[in-house]
Amino acid sequence: TGRVALRFAPSGRDVRVPAGVSVFDAASWNGIAIDSTCGGHGTCRKCKVRLTSGSAPITSHDVRTFSQGELDDGWRLACLVRTAVDLDVDVPPLVTRPKASTVGVGRQVILRPAVQKRFLELEEPTLSDQRTDIVRILDAITDLEPRVDLAVIRSAARVLRAADFKVTAVIIDDLLVDIEPGDTTDRRFAIAYDLGTTTVVATLLDLSTGTPAAVASMLNGQQPFGGDVITRISATMMDDSAAGRLRELAHATLNSLAQEVLAEAGVAPTEVYEVGLAGNATMTALALGIDPEPLGVAPFVMSAASFPPVPVAELGLTLHPGARAVIFPALGAYVGGDIVAGMLASGMDRDKRARLFVDVGTNCEIVLSDGERIVSTAAPAGPAFEGGAIRCGMRAADGAIEVITLDPAAPAGAPEGVQLGVIGDVEPRGLCGSGLVDAVAELARVGLLDSSGRFITDEQAAEQLPGLADRLSAVGQERVFVLYRPTPDAPTEQCVYLSQRDVRELQFAKAAISTGWSLLLGELDLEPRDIQQVLLAGSFGSYLSPASAIRIGLVPKLPVLRIVSAGNVAGEGAKMVLLSARERAGAEALLQEVKYVELSDRPDFNDRFVDQLAFPG
Ligand code: FES
Repeated sequence: TGRVALRFAPSGRDVRVPAGVSVFDAASWNGIAIDSTCGGHGTCRKCKVRLTSGSAPITSHDVRTFSQGELDDGWRLACLVRTAVDLDVDVPPLVTRPKASTVGVGRQVILRPAVQKRFLELEEPTLSDQRTDIVRILDAITDLEPRVDLAVIRSAARVLRAADFKVTAVIIDDLLVDIEPGDTTDRRFAIAYDLGTTTVVATLLDLSTGTPAAVASMLNGQQPFGGDVITRISATMMDDSAAGRLRELAHATLNSLAQEVLAEAGVAPTEVYEVGLAGNATMTALALGIDPEPLGVAPFVMSAASFPPVPVAELGLTLHPGARAVIFPALGAYVGGDIVAGMLASGMDRDKRARLFVDVGTNCEIVLSDGERIVSTAAPAGPAFEGGAIRCGMRAADGAIEVITLDPAAPAGAPEGVQLGVIGDVEPRGLCGSGLVDAVAELARVGLLDSSGRFITDEQAAEQLPGLADRLSAVGQERVFVLYRPTPDAPTEQCVYLSQRDVRELQFAKAAISTGWSLLLGELDLEPRDIQQVLLAGSFGSYLSPASAIRIGLVPKLPVLRIVSAGNVAGEGAKMVLLSARERAGAEALLQEVKYVELSDRPDFNDRFVDQLAFPG
């Protein structure tokens, strides 16, 4: 599958898209507005553009829309031009400017939700006009040609007559799902979910304006079954009833979040017509009632990569009866729908720069693009970043140390040698993932850890770093660095500290990740310095200090400004597919475009991994 280059005038935007994508979609994906009321379905004949270089076949719709002279001049309907060659496209000014919304990493999304409403003032039937109720409705919808749901046929007679034939038609994609009394065109909502293993986030979107009406988050109710996907998959393998209970817990979580955002925004459940769901492959399978077991054992095969739209009741949600959920497709068992959503939201497929996307977590997903090709992989980083397997590790909650700065010039016995940033400004209780990365990076920077990750001796410390030496201590046989001592004579066991084994855990985690991206760089023949931007994504990665990530070698050694926190890109991707039906095609197109590289397959994995354990000089 090749790519074609499109240049849009007068905006001057150059974009690259997979061949076969329509000019209308290519423009829409890149935030360039082309006039339309049908949303690219080939029925409104408003999406007129002129091809000033390159050409496209003339369709029967083009013949009906343009004169022969205009056709010769290159005029076409943009949604009917399937790109096959590079094109220069002149876009006329809009007759009616549609609203656009900025989401993800600077992505402009033109508002064209699948959920459409049309207010209809119908003529009442007479003996000389005996059209059926449904024909009367469809005749009045001039710019769309929807199919009709049985629910509408059932309610039409009553609703039309009770509302004096003034009704609002609700259309999802190409299906008329409801007629509502009166004019409800400004009440159109959808809920975007980021279904994480740990945390679930819901955003209620006002589809008329593209803006969030309310946001809520909570811990995934599946926590009692374990903190990561493997323990939850194992639970279903050991106990036949576990899958059902895990599904119920996922549904309960989605439901309480829905109630919370609806209450906050004063929106009725029946005003929500669509749901977007971005989750990793295991969370998606559990929520949909798909057996997750094959995801947990080699060769790690999914039941399906993409899903049809499903009624929201399948997710345990009670919203509009015709509402449906759009489920993100997955690239592989360990590069799931959350990452596809993240790629969509960060525009990995439509940027000419070489970019690296790293979602840091227990399972770390890595995506690399050279502007043409995209490759991805998953690296098993282990629980260190979530505070697991770390002696004083904890989740990023009140009392967690998240920022650490060491002053190597501090005089002996001075307290200012160690500066801590603590979540909630309370007494430190432990160390969260970003604190762990900071601590190790700082200890390596000042020289308390050598490049192999070992603490220097007490004698070396006393000589070289008198202000920090007294922080070196031991718990049992293990050497530790004390970050916080609650009282001057508190035993080390009661302190918040970083142990030699903690340092090793982090080294293993970062080595797995850097092995992942270095192998991907090899796939695309790139050097680390070629990377123009590194996106740190996910609920953990977004909070990492870029400087510390570089210091320990978690990301390539690059100018710190090239390392960008991407935020919750999975949730942003879920918003995008609700705001624009065209973005859905973009998510599905990623499945074709991205090459998945299996790390455990690589004969050079172990050697590379060992090479990556040390801290970069
Ligand atoms: Fe409506 Fe092309 S967008 S006809």
